[in-house]
Amino acid sequence: MPGPSRIRRTVFVTREIGPAPLMRLSNAARVLVWDEEMPPPASALRSALANADAVLSMVTDKIDARMIAHAPRLRVISNLAVGVDNIDLEAATRAGIAVGHTPGVLTEATADLAFGLLMATARRIAEADRHVRAGRWRTWGPMTMLGRDVHSSTLGLIGFGAIGQAMARRAMGFGMRVLYLKYPRGKRKLPRDARLAVGVSLNRLLAQSDYVSIHVPLTAKTRHMIGAREFSLMKRGAILINTARGSVVDQAAMVAALKSGRLAGAGMDVTDPEPVARQDPLLRLDNVVITPHIGSASIAARASMTAIAVDNILDAFAGRVPRWCSNPQVRLRP
Ligand code: DGY
Repeated sequence: MPGPSRIRRTVFVTREIGPAPLMRLSNAARVLVWDEEMPPPASALRSALANADAVLSMVTDKIDARMIAHAPRLRVISNLAVGVDNIDLEAATRAGIAVGHTPGVLTEATADLAFGLLMATARRIAEADRHVRAGRWRTWGPMTMLGRDVHSSTLGLIGFGAIGQAMARRAMGFGMRVLYLKYPRGKRKLPRDARLAVGVSLNRLLAQSDYVSIHVPLTAKTRHMIGAREFSLMKRGAILINTARGSVVDQAAMVAALKSGRLAGAGMDVTDPEPVARQDPLLRLDNVVITPHIGSASIAARASMTAIAVDNILDAFAGRVPRWCSNPQVRLRP
């Protein structure tokens, strides 16, 4: 008969997440934490997964089909994110592994940041701050740091799920007109906040919006969804905001649009690749505001995300498909 230590489950946590969630996990399993600032390299992740029953992963951990094939005990991949594009969902489902995620609790925090980027780009807040710190604020000037109005302008939302709708609510407070593209199109359920905005085609949204904000997941279909063609359809002087995933935008085409003036600015919380390379032309453009993928980084949102990520693991250990599961059709492996 195996002793209790031999049947104890193992959870690999790929970054420090704080004592409270670790304590909850420790009550159910042996917990191994990768406690470095940088994510585990693929080789370390692969060998940890080979002996783990669960992994609490981050968006920076790429878990592909090969890794999954070498993880015979793994029952649950619990991603500390709403997006799961870092995980091969099909391979996980085939292997009987649940993929947990953390929707809902980061909606408002992410919309706050997206709206903040919109404001910062429109009114040149980051650029103006650099201006002051560089000692260039010599007097009040009638032409100094002129930006674009946010109030009374048109916001186009590409994607009208929870975060897109939260953006629409913020835009209403600023007297903006809001257009949205429903994505994916086939979804039957009407958005809860459809009355806040007008559903339009992508082409119309691009042609009429002063601000375009992206709120779709990254999939094979949305990769480079916004490229040279889409930039050419945008209003001259529009501003693009991206808090979704960097690769939804063709970044080279975006740089060209920024340089030509087609785009007046861009506010990006996500880039392709991440982190943005130090020599990337984006970093030399004053009309671009970049934050380091911090959309959900409010203290409260991260605490709730972590609690859900732990719940998802405990559900799988109890033999249940986790409540917040990206592949609810999975037949959990025994
Ligand atoms: C997500 O949740 O998908 C974010 O990108 C990370 O918080």
